[in-house]
Amino acid sequence: MLNNQYWTDLEEHQRKLRETHLKNLFKNDTGRISKFATEDLNLYFDFSKNHITEETLNLFEKLLESIDFNSKREALFSGEQINVTEHRSVSHMLLREADPSNTEIESTREKMRVFCEAIHDQRFTGATGQPITDVINIGIGGSELGPRMVCRALRQFHINTAPNIHFVSNIDGAEIEELLTRLNPEQSLFIVASKTFTTQETLTNALIAKNWIASQLNEKSVAKHFVGLTAAPRKAYEFGILPDHVFPMWDWVGGRFSLWSAIGLSIMLSVGVNNFSKLLKGGHDIDQHFKNTPLRKNIPLLMALITIWYRNFFHYEAQAILPYAQDLELFPSYLQQLDMESNGKSVDIKGSPLPFHTGPIIFGQAGTNGQHAFYQHLHQSKTITPAEFILIKKPLSKLKNNHDLLLANGIAQSQALMIGEENLEEPYKNFPGNRPSTTLLFEELSPYTLGQLIAIYEHKITAQGMLWGINSFDQWGVELGKKLAKNIMANKNKSLTEDSLDASTYGLLKKIQE
Ligand code: F6P
Repeated sequence: MLNNQYWTDLEEHQRKLRETHLKNLFKNDTGRISKFATEDLNLYFDFSKNHITEETLNLFEKLLESIDFNSKREALFSGEQINVTEHRSVSHMLLREADPSNTEIESTREKMRVFCEAIHDQRFTGATGQPITDVINIGIGGSELGPRMVCRALRQFHINTAPNIHFVSNIDGAEIEELLTRLNPEQSLFIVASKTFTTQETLTNALIAKNWIASQLNEKSVAKHFVGLTAAPRKAYEFGILPDHVFPMWDWVGGRFSLWSAIGLSIMLSVGVNNFSKLLKGGHDIDQHFKNTPLRKNIPLLMALITIWYRNFFHYEAQAILPYAQDLELFPSYLQQLDMESNGKSVDIKGSPLPFHTGPIIFGQAGTNGQHAFYQHLHQSKTITPAEFILIKKPLSKLKNNHDLLLANGIAQSQALMIGEENLEEPYKNFPGNRPSTTLLFEELSPYTLGQLIAIYEHKITAQGMLWGINSFDQWGVELGKKLAKNIMANKNKSLTEDSLDASTYGLLKKIQE
């Protein structure tokens, strides 16, 4: 529990409200949609199928006031170092502004533009003068999930002159080995995407690619076939990348918020400069919306409060992300990093243990596929999982009937979750529904609306962190695993002794060495 009167009031309010079935919230209030659905920037957000009333929003409004949420949001936008453990500001929103006076952003964007156009026009060639047909982004986490998801989601915007874009992330050599068998070295360009330029997976795979180019062509050719995206340019030069081929980013761009920066080079290569700008504009418009819209119409903030409502007051542990668009199939896994790496925390911003839970477990899949996988659990399990539906009005194919069926299914699922089924003759078919969901409806899936969607979730997650009083921008848990893996590698060939390791680790290593 947050030590706050309004938090206590919300707990009290939840005790009263939890008895009311969602169906009855609609019955009791015919004007419910006008209060719990909102529209802005051509997108429609329906949050009426939630266990909330006017009173819930009133109390949350007071809670926000009492923690001075506006100042926290202001601190984010004004570039204060709100990532206190790493002494950094969180300013990726600047990348979405079209501000010519910001020279470091503008000159990098210009460098990206010139580079992409040279690839598209085939003015940039490989060492043997062949045009580039395949670009391979080597990166992991924020240096892969965002660009990969966006390239997949915007496949219809992939321009004719663009090369094929591939992604390699896993340290499992099976991934890069298989890809290299399909590539022509003379026509391949490797992007080494790493903010720190120290990530084990990325550097190991980049070295394999470098050796491959050197062996297939020659040492001298390497420089022509590599570019680097990083906040540590010196390390990229040491790796053998030409300064001209290094695109900078900055420490104020967090890895999982970096697709808007040079890390998005693969996106720009795929969809072109104009579409990349539209993606930025979509994100920027949501920045303005999040900054200036009052709570009851502020989509990311409402989403954040609804998540907190269920996580901390109803004690639901997970959240399902259900995009009804095959092109958004990677969105749930992208969001897993954005949300779970940001808000999977158990200490507050000063390091004191928290007395309540933070970020939920995020999972999901594109509809309708998910309906035949885990939805049974959503409908009938004793574990309740709030769902977030993402619907796209305009079909992404010429198959209009398929699209009608797709949307009908998305809407039917949110309805089914709410109403359940009453079947007294066959009790196993009897389930109460009363399961909450929200729906985001976009007119179309385009670079602009995708920018909106991503920024909505970024701000939702950030706002949750502000309410919980945590630092959503570090990831110390991930760092420990990296350290231990290094330690295991260092001891791999030494004769192992049980007392230097725990018994389980010792046993596993012994088995592998056998
Ligand atoms: O997964 C942990 C992490 O530190 C992420 O935060 C980051 O996006 C990823 O590693 C990759 O880091 P880098 O871009 O520095 O290679």
